[in-house]
Amino acid sequence: MRSVLLQEAFAAPAVARSKGVVEEEAAKLCARLVDSAGSPVEVRPMLRKAFTSLFFRWALSLDPDSGVAQRLATLFEGAWSTLTDPVVTASDFVGLPGVTGTLPKIKRERTRLFRELITARRRSESNRAGETDFLDAMLKSQKKHGFGEDLIVETLVSLTTAGISTVATSLEWLLLLFAKHQSAQTQARSEILGQGEQRYLEACILETLRLKTPLFVPRMCLEDLEVSGWGLKEGTLLLPDSYKLAHDQAHWGGGPVDEFRPERFLNAERPLLDALPGLRPKCPFTGASRADAGAAEATPEKGATAFKFLPFGVGARFCPGAPLALSELHIFAAALLRAFDWQVDGGQVDLSEAYSFTLTPLNPSRLIFRPRR
Ligand code: HEM
Repeated sequence: MRSVLLQEAFAAPAVARSKGVVEEEAAKLCARLVDSAGSPVEVRPMLRKAFTSLFFRWALSLDPDSGVAQRLATLFEGAWSTLTDPVVTASDFVGLPGVTGTLPKIKRERTRLFRELITARRRSESNRAGETDFLDAMLKSQKKHGFGEDLIVETLVSLTTAGISTVATSLEWLLLLFAKHQSAQTQARSEILGQGEQRYLEACILETLRLKTPLFVPRMCLEDLEVSGWGLKEGTLLLPDSYKLAHDQAHWGGGPVDEFRPERFLNAERPLLDALPGLRPKCPFTGASRADAGAAEATPEKGATAFKFLPFGVGARFCPGAPLALSELHIFAAALLRAFDWQVDGGQVDLSEAYSFTLTPLNPSRLIFRPRR
């Protein structure tokens, strides 16, 4: 039922509907950066704020400056900093005793506020013109399938955990990588300002998601299993190492895997770029072909190689927001490229990684944005 809900609510209209709001939030971010023009700014809080506002508007048509939105934003930050605390382990995510002690309190208040918003929406439903936001899409799906309100609340909670800081962090990495690789920044900008096909920026986004593999989601076996000859008992915790897969030189063409080389997605790894999710809420990358240098035809990848690129997970729980996330990254990056040149404050770009639930830049960097004339 959950997957039906996610498929329906994330279907093509949801992504199409988001475009205007995403563009407005990207423009607001640019306006804030113009205010600080020339001085170093810590981008992380600004990006979090932008994507939190986007969530409120896209999912709930809620004014980001309203009291309830501000309260929810504080709760999201609290939940996120607990989840990304380096001492939080995978076991905490599957309900084993851990350090997530503050989460139940946050959860209770967040649930109460979401329920109040849902109740208010039901009351005003007759005045609304069709499906205008994500909550409308979920309520429509509920009427069709008859599931309970808990599922709606749980989905909104998933969105706040899965759909805000993931995008903000990926964009932060992209900005840092562009600060370090000025020639890539220039090339992406000239493509954006031109009229042609915009694949270089897409390649930069995918290369960022590969190099700085965003999210590690554990799994627990619900029954005894055998995987590749390994016997796994019910209850075994599995930690798929998507970072290792994305950094395994044996599986990747287009140059050293520890370097930022967007061109690999235009050449050797082009089939992955062509497999972009578009509007299908399912994993597009597994089993894509690989065009080896000199090979007459691309060959389908198998085994571990077929699963080498999993920024959005795989299988039944594949990220339903992947098309939206890619569209958001593209729109924000394009707006920033059009408006500014940027570089890091102090000359040296720090790309060191903090590993927890997500892979985050270890030290929040300060960037200098110079408006383009
Ligand atoms: C660059 C940004 C993003 C990345 C890297 C990302 C990655 C992921 C990953 C790895 C998962 C877990 C998949 C699994 O368990 O196998 C996931 C789940 C999920 N994502 Fe995303 N995500 C991103 C953005 C978004 C956005 C923008 C939304 C929605 C607004 C979203 C909504 C969700 C939801 C609802 C789930 C849970 C699906 C389920 O429980 O079945 N994500 N995401």
